Amino acid sequence: MKYWIAGPMIFVAAAAFAHSGVKDERVLARMAGMSAIAEHVKVIGSMAKGEMPFDAAAANAALTRIGDEAARVPALFEPEADDPKSEALPAIWDEFDSFEQKAVALETLAAQRAGTVEASGDLVPLMRDIGGACRDCHSEYRE
Ligand code: HEC
Repeated sequence: MKYWIAGPMIFVAAAAFAHSGVKDERVLARMAGMSAIAEHVKVIGSMAKGEMPFDAAAANAALTRIGDEAARVPALFEPEADDPKSEALPAIWDEFDSFEQKAVALETLAAQRAGTVEASGDLVPLMRDIGGACRDCHSEYRE
């Protein structure tokens, strides 16, 4: 598996375990939002790896949903809620504008690419760009 797919796919695998024991509903809600993003990325990643047959409409729909979910991220993270299981770093609330910009960057990227996937060869650069947008935020704001 190449690195540009492995990155986002690892987020997906981790998501299933992270929720157990979390009690704060605001933390649960933002984790669920991230898991939803990851599920849609998984559709594109699975096609890019050849595990799923190429389906341009499904890839474009996944992009629309990633954009919609990314648009919800600032509101989901606005309450400064914590939980022992949370991986959110306090820097989010010290620099909320910068955090929000990274969510907007993912939203914009996904919205711009939605409808543009036409061939399976489009998926590799797409996964690289999406993975970059995830990493750009996680590297600063997630443990
Ligand atoms: C604007 C910042 C930001 C962007 C962009 C972002 N994330 Fe996250 N993500 C976070 C933060 C912060 C957490 C930790 C949340 C917590 O544990 O409270 C997180 C957690 C996660 C989790 C774990 C959720 C759980 O169940 O605990 C997954 C999966 C995830 N992100 C996937 C992605 C993927 C895939 C992308 C890109 C398509 C992405 N994220 C883009 C900030 C971001």
